[in-house]
Amino acid sequence: MPSYLVTGGAGFIGSHLVEALLARGDTVRVVDNLSSGRRENLAGMSGVDFLEGDLADNGVAARAVAGVEYVLHQAAMPSVPRSVADPIASNRANIDATVNLLVAARDAGVRRLVYAGSSSAYGDTPTLPKTEAMPPAPLSPYALQKLVGEQYCGMFTRLYGLETVTIRYFNVFGPRQDPSSPYSGVISLFIKALSEGRQPTIFGDGNQTRDFTYVTNVVDGVLEAAAVPGIADTVINVATGGRVSLMELFRTLQRVIGASGDPAFGPPRAGDVRDSQADITRARELLGYAPSVSFEEGLARTVEWFRRSQAAAAPETRS
Ligand code: UD1
Repeated sequence: MPSYLVTGGAGFIGSHLVEALLARGDTVRVVDNLSSGRRENLAGMSGVDFLEGDLADNGVAARAVAGVEYVLHQAAMPSVPRSVADPIASNRANIDATVNLLVAARDAGVRRLVYAGSSSAYGDTPTLPKTEAMPPAPLSPYALQKLVGEQYCGMFTRLYGLETVTIRYFNVFGPRQDPSSPYSGVISLFIKALSEGRQPTIFGDGNQTRDFTYVTNVVDGVLEAAAVPGIADTVINVATGGRVSLMELFRTLQRVIGASGDPAFGPPRAGDVRDSQADITRARELLGYAPSVSFEEGLARTVEWFRRSQAAAAPETRS
């Protein structure tokens, strides 16, 4: 029964990893500072060893990795605009915490650490889809910090022999993604607005594109990345492999939710990437990865989850 540490395990993606690990009988510890994660995300998942603390504190990092074989490092301050607004806080959450964790994992003899990288590393280089061999071109503090984190991971493999693998995520969405902050992911914000009869705001002309990826696909990729031998010091895209514009997303969600009207438009966001689409050949070859849930199916599941959680939160308003 291997033991896993999921950093940021009370967050959106982290909690899905925890759920999948528990379902197959693994032992799971979570470390989370609850900055954006919530204990409720782990509701019903019994047997989790929960450690509340901030990995930017190296004592917390050492306690978190004690006795652990695999680390799935999800803890981060995951927002481009938030990093533009507060580069120091996001640097601490995304880089200081990662270096502390890497040192602690090295010293504790962890077998492998899988790092949550970001598609934002590619920036606005013209070629699509993005392959891992392309030179990175970060456009925001967040993108740069996530890139530095993955480079630290590779360096720890080469310098100290700690096995690390980076999975570059592409705009992940799904149940438990929190729509309550202006920095939340666009799909969660759009679902909330349309469900409440409001029009969401599109920043820019709506023709920017993203490779929106349902969370189950990411879980599959990350768990394989922890298990497959011989892939240390590798960066691997995990995504759907498609490209959907914000306008298409808006119209599709309107159909699924049963809403109408036009969106509001605002100025483009500083640090925003124009187009993002993954080449997933490497994930296929190294991890045997294939996206098991399509964009459309993922949207339907996410809207359904949102409806249920709204109904559960306000039972007296249910008709
Ligand atoms: C970026 C990264 C992604 C990372 C995420 C962390 C890229 C290509 N992707 O996502 O890998 O996980 O940061 O947060 O860099 N938008 C609106 N209206 C809104 C909110 C957003 O139009 O109310 C637009 C944004 O301007 C952007 C798109 O929707 O063009 C997606 O935004 P968001 O969901 O915040 O993710 P990214 O910044 O693309």
